[in-house]
Amino acid sequence: MSTTRPKFKNPRAKHDFKGRTVSITGVGAYVPAKAMTNFELEKIVDTTDEWITSRTGIKERRIAAKDEFTSDMAARAAQRAMKAAGVTADQVDLIIVATITPDMVFPSTACLVQQKIGANRAAAFDLEAACSGFIYGLEIAQQFIMSRTYDTVIVIGAEKLSSVVDWTDRNTCVLFGDGAGCAVLQSRSNSHGLLTAVMGADGSKAELLHMPGGGSRCPATTQSVNARLHFLRMEGKETFKHAVQAMVSAATEALRRCDLKVSDMKCIIPHQANRRIIDAVGDRLNARPDQLFINLDRYGNTSAASVAIALDEAVSSGRIHRGDLVLLVVFGAGLTWGAAVIEW
Ligand code: ACO
Repeated sequence: MSTTRPKFKNPRAKHDFKGRTVSITGVGAYVPAKAMTNFELEKIVDTTDEWITSRTGIKERRIAAKDEFTSDMAARAAQRAMKAAGVTADQVDLIIVATITPDMVFPSTACLVQQKIGANRAAAFDLEAACSGFIYGLEIAQQFIMSRTYDTVIVIGAEKLSSVVDWTDRNTCVLFGDGAGCAVLQSRSNSHGLLTAVMGADGSKAELLHMPGGGSRCPATTQSVNARLHFLRMEGKETFKHAVQAMVSAATEALRRCDLKVSDMKCIIPHQANRRIIDAVGDRLNARPDQLFINLDRYGNTSAASVAIALDEAVSSGRIHRGDLVLLVVFGAGLTWGAAVIEW
């Protein structure tokens, strides 16, 4: 627990003008049962456990079953978060699913989740901000709640990246995994809450991390499939550089808005893409190593699900308790980035 209660100078932070707080009342996560180790990958592409571990920190990742889709994982995570929050399906006003691997181009995965969890009253839409999607979702949910449009919003980050990874490309296939995480956001009077969320984007660097095929620019044809255009592509080194810069500046801006310091944070949960990125961000923010939450060794990069799964694990493992200050910071394709400060 934080001993001294910080003052929040920014009027957007902490409470809206009528003393309302946007609170995360429950979190939940789901990862598929199948864990694929680096040693299994050694049999698929020209790589080694030593290379993957030393360059990324990843030891294994979860891989969804053939008949297990993004909406299935999202629904499981949502049900767990709703149980933790004590929220029933008929109380949900809005479902936001952040994903780059929807079950299909349309309808939205959020609509499929609505049906799976029985939240028949809820509006539902997908949000596409790659690995930054969960923070974008938190900010959007906060706006809907503060404007009094909705009271209960569930934000889900869910991915089946194994379905868009090129399993012949050692540069990318070792990095990604599948899973889902969810947060329930509700209005609460003068209690703990989401203090601020920052979002950013730079479309001029879209080529650094993209999937060329499958959209209106390059619909599926025999040629596009043969040219492997329906798989994720990434320029790793360049992406790495931008990730560190963007995450540091998003985190700094989020803290500035709340008039808080890195040292006030009980826990920092960065996007789980690469251990070296996390360490570089931690160094530049002058964070203590014990402030950083890391689980990418077990899950790899799960894109929009990454910080959502990590937040759930940080709560369930007792790393954070009610009243603790938590910083989430993310980066992804787009390019996109974001950060959020939560008084848990
Ligand atoms: N096994 C063995 N060798 C490999 C592998 C592998 N799995 N992958 C690449 N290599 C080789 C390369 O071919 C290259 O060999 P060469 O020098 O003979 O050409 C060598 O290793 C070095 O490659 P680099 O790209 O320089 O390796 P780097 O140290 O940059 O690490 C990595 C690569 C892990 C991809 C890193 O750049 C990275 O993490 N980038 C950022 C990823 C990220 O943050 N993504 C964020 C968002 S993801 C989203 O939005 C969905």
